[in-house]
Amino acid sequence: MALLNLPEARLRERTSLKWRTFDADVLPLWVAEMDVEQHPAVQEALVDAIRRGDTGYPHGTAYAEAYAAMAEHRWGWRPAPEQIRRSGDVMNSMLALLVGNTAEGDHVVINPPVYPPFWQIVTGYRRHLTEVALTPAGRLDLPAIEAALDGPDDPSAYLLCSPHNPTGTIHTADELGALATACAERGVVLIVDEIHAPLIDPGNEFVPVLSVPAAQRAIVTFSAGKGWNLAALKGGVMLRGTEAAGVFDKLPPLANQSTGHLATIAHTAALTHAQDWVDQLMTEVAANKQLLVDLLAADLPGVTYRPGPATYLAWLDCSALGLAHPRNHFLTRGKVALNGGADFGAAFGQFVRMNLAASPELITRAVQRMAASLA
Ligand SMILES: Cc1ncc(COP(=O)(O)O)c(C=O)c1O
Repeated sequence: MALLNLPEARLRERTSLKWRTFDADVLPLWVAEMDVEQHPAVQEALVDAIRRGDTGYPHGTAYAEAYAAMAEHRWGWRPAPEQIRRSGDVMNSMLALLVGNTAEGDHVVINPPVYPPFWQIVTGYRRHLTEVALTPAGRLDLPAIEAALDGPDDPSAYLLCSPHNPTGTIHTADELGALATACAERGVVLIVDEIHAPLIDPGNEFVPVLSVPAAQRAIVTFSAGKGWNLAALKGGVMLRGTEAAGVFDKLPPLANQSTGHLATIAHTAALTHAQDWVDQLMTEVAANKQLLVDLLAADLPGVTYRPGPATYLAWLDCSALGLAHPRNHFLTRGKVALNGGADFGAAFGQFVRMNLAASPELITRAVQRMAASLA
């Protein structure tokens, strides 16, 4: 049975950000929440924990072991126990890693267009940004990256999104190796956010950065929160390369206090019992990507969409429509909520991001509304 087929009325009972930010006449295809029910194993694990009164502090290595088992199953690579530790959610982990590995005033490299909190954790904590845009094809621009690493900003850290949100780019082993080498040669700490790693279209392969021999000084943050729609339950793991011993010792005090025990239980259940579930989900998401290509070709040919092989997010170039502010236009005139591209980088105001972890029916109605709004 399809996962992305919940009736809109059921979804509107939800009280989360996606469903409550806008009025009920708006179709919400924005923030990265998925329109799925929880896998039965996750539901049972949570209900069992509540029944036991098991609502204290987290303990043990179950989450790390479940991650390692997934890595072996999916990517044929298994980190050693000392390379993994339970952590808070991904953004707080990245923040802690930044604080532990850089000083106030340092520069940190990011690759616009990129997930808005990447900007916020740098500038909000008195570090500065060094922006190296992805190429127009959505790839890492290695010559430009090397020039920035050697440039006057003299960056001390690099935040990589892998796979990349919002373009859905999967970085190749060669790209990751070259980037990691460039960082290591200059003493730049490479911090890689792999939260979207399980969200890969059928027939494509994700490469975990720590499976690349040249990248053993890198640090990774991961959470089951995105792949299994568990953002309500904050938790994750941090991983380090074999040549990054000691990096966890640099974390600020209490850095991982935000991990919830229920999050650990739910995420561990998802990683252990719901790998097939995420594969089925991505089969449906891949079909939604093709649906969107077809709908745009028929109804909105002015929007350019080149589907990436990762994530359920679609990055749409609306430049040809001649709108002053595409995201606002589609919200007010079409009653469709999308993410505005400017949040992902100042140069991307003509883009919008659409969330395809929704039913084909909802996506179809959204594109119809968007097209009608231009008439
Ligand atoms: C690239 C990326 N990193 C991190 C997050 C948020 O993760 P967390 O809730 O674990 O901080 C998201 C959420 O969409 C994301 O897309």
